[in-house]
Amino acid sequence: MTKTYKIAVIPGDGIGKEVVPEGIRVLEAVGAKFDIAFQWDEKDWSCERWQATGRMMPEDALEGIRGHDGIFLGAVGWPTVPDHVSLWGLLIPIRREFRQYVNLRPVRLFEGVRSPLADRAPGDIDFMIVRENNEGEYSEMGGRLNKGTPDEVVIQENIFTRKGVDRVLRYAFDLAQSRPKKHLTSATKSNGIIHTMPFWDECFAAMAKDYPDIRTDQFHIDILTAHFVQHPDWFDVVVGSNLFGDILSDLGPAVTGTIGIAPSANLNPEREFPSMFEPVHGSAPDIAGQGIANPIGQIWSGAMMLDHLGHPEAARAIVAAIERLLAEKGPRTRDMGGTADTVAVGKALADLI
Ligand code: NAI
Ligand code: MG
Repeated sequence: MTKTYKIAVIPGDGIGKEVVPEGIRVLEAVGAKFDIAFQWDEKDWSCERWQATGRMMPEDALEGIRGHDGIFLGAVGWPTVPDHVSLWGLLIPIRREFRQYVNLRPVRLFEGVRSPLADRAPGDIDFMIVRENNEGEYSEMGGRLNKGTPDEVVIQENIFTRKGVDRVLRYAFDLAQSRPKKHLTSATKSNGIIHTMPFWDECFAAMAKDYPDIRTDQFHIDILTAHFVQHPDWFDVVVGSNLFGDILSDLGPAVTGTIGIAPSANLNPEREFPSMFEPVHGSAPDIAGQGIANPIGQIWSGAMMLDHLGHPEAARAIVAAIERLLAEKGPRTRDMGGTADTVAVGKALADLI
C-alpha cells in the first residue's frame, strides 16, 4: 500500500517561493517511482503575512502542524521586515517548539562543479556539519539599558546546558561512528570565551571516551574557518554551537562552488515532533522574482526529508539525479555558470528520476 505523508509546506519569502515548487516536483517524481505519496499542506507564513497581520504566522500555527510528518521550508526574510523579527517570528519558534536540536548540513564537491579553491577534485570535499540548533548564542536573554544615550548598555547572554550540549554531541559522535572515516572535529573558542566554550570542550572530551574508535580533534573557530579553505579534505563530521555551526555551514558550501546547492535538515532525532527540511540559503532578495534561483539546495533538502522518513533508496535516487545532472553538464543556473532558469533545472532533475 502506498504510504502517504502529510507535509507542511512553507515557501516563505523571496526565492523560497520559486525553489519550493521545484522541490515538490522532484519529490512527486521520486514518490511515483517508489510508491510514496504526499499530502502538501501549504502555509502562507512569511514577511508578507507579517505586513498584513502583524504576525509571521498565526498564534496557533504550530499546534496545527504538530502531528504532521515533516515540514518543507523555502526561506524566510525580506528587506521590509527586520531580520530578527522574521527569524524569531517563524524559524526559531519551529526549531525550538519541535525540539529540532540538530541542524545537519552536508558539504560536498560534486563532479562537474568548479570549486573556487584551486586544485580541488570531487572526493576531496565530503563532510557533514552538525550545528546545535536550540540554544547557544541564539538566545533572547539579555537586554538594553539607557537606549540611545551615551550610557547605553547592551547584554546578550549565551545559553549552554549540559543536556543541550550532550545531546547534539551524542548525535555527532553517532554520525561519525556510521561513516568510514570515523573522524569528528569540534569547533570551539575556549581561549576567548571563558565559560561556555571550556564547558563545551569538557563535554566533548568526556563523550569521546565512550567512542574509542573515533578519531577526534578540535580547533578554535578562527583557524577552523581557515582550514575549511586550505584543507577541506581534513574533515568528516564537524560539530559546532549554534553560531559557529551557522557560519561554518555557509563557508562549507561556498568552497564547493555555490551556496545554492546546500541542503539542511532540522532534526528532532527522537521523532516526537516533525522535523524541518530547508536549503541553507536565505530568500536572496537580490535575485528574487527573476526565476533564476538554483533549486538544488531545496531539492536535496527533499532527499534529506525522505531519508528521515525512512526511504533511503528514494533519497539516494534524488542525490544520484543531482550527481548526474552536474556531471553530465545538464542545465544549470547562473550561480553555477549556466543560463538555465529555476524551473528548467527542477524539470531536468524530475526527468532524470
Ligand atoms: P542569502 O542566502 O539569501 O543570499 C546570499 C547570496 O547568495 C545572494 O547573493 C544570493 O543571490 C545568493 N543565493 C542564495 N541562494 C541562492 C540560490 N538558491 N541560487 C542562486 N543564488 C543564491 O543570504 P542573505 O542575503 O544574507 O539574506 C537574505 C534574507 O534571507 C535575509 O532576510 C535573511 O535574514 C534571510 N535568511 C533566511 C534564512 C532561512 O530562511 N533559513 C537563512 C539565511 C538568510
Ligand atoms: Mg545561515
